[in-house]
Amino acid sequence: MIIAANLKTNLTRKETNEYLKEIESFVTSKNLTQEVLVFPAMSSLDHNDTSIIVGAQNAYATRDGAFTGEIGLVHLEEFAIKTVLIGHSERRHILGETQEELVKKFNYYKELGFKIVYCVGEPLDKREAGKSEMMEYITSQYAGIDTEYENLIIAYEPVWAIGTGLTPSLEDIEDIHTALKAKSTAPILYGGSVKVTNAKEVLALKNVDGILVGSAALYGEHFCSMIAFAQELEVQ
Ligand code: PGA
Repeated sequence: MIIAANLKTNLTRKETNEYLKEIESFVTSKNLTQEVLVFPAMSSLDHNDTSIIVGAQNAYATRDGAFTGEIGLVHLEEFAIKTVLIGHSERRHILGETQEELVKKFNYYKELGFKIVYCVGEPLDKREAGKSEMMEYITSQYAGIDTEYENLIIAYEPVWAIGTGLTPSLEDIEDIHTALKAKSTAPILYGGSVKVTNAKEVLALKNVDGILVGSAALYGEHFCSMIAFAQELEVQ
C-alpha cells in the first residue's frame, strides 16, 4: 500500500531531516515493504539519502524562469525529486488554482515521468447537495487529466474532512473509491482526518490503496504505526 505524509507548512529543514530519519529507521528495522511518501515544505527539501520517497507539495510547470514565489524543475532536480503532489484542496481553494492550471502542471510533470499524486475531493456544499451532484463535482476535477498515466496516484480527500477531525463513514469512503476506480485504474489513497485511531479500518476498505495523512503524520510515531498497519493488512 501507499502511505503518504503531507507535512504542509510545517517542520523546518532540520526537523524534516530528523523526521525522515525516524521514519526510515522504523521502516528498515521492521522490514516494511510499503511505499512511503513524504511531502515536506518547499524550503525543507534537501539532499536526503533515504529510502523514503520525498516529493514536492507543488511545483510550477516550468524548468525555471520569472514566476515569483514558485519553484520549477531545476529546483526539484537539485534534490533528485521525481514525485509531485498536484491539486491539493488547499491549493485549489486557498491559493485559487484552477483546473486549467493544474492540468498544465500535470502534463508538464507527466512528460518528465514524475510520480504524480493528484488530489480530488468535494467541499461540504457539494456533499450536502446529494450524491449525483457530488460525483459530478469530483468528475470535473478529472477534466484534462490522463487517468491512465502509469505513474499516477489519485488521492480522494473530501475538503470538509481535511484538518477537521471529521471523516465520511467507512461505507461512504468505500463507495466513492469504488466509483472512482471506474474512472481510472490508478491506486487511490484516502485523505482527510486520518489518525492512528482510524487508519487501520480505512486501509482495510476495498478499493483503498493507501492514505494521505496531514496533521497526524506530524507525529512521526503515529505515521510509523500507520505504515505498520498497512503491512499487517497486507500479510493477513
Ligand atoms: P489532515 O490533512 O490529515 O490534516 O486532514 C490531509 C491532507 O490535507 O492531505
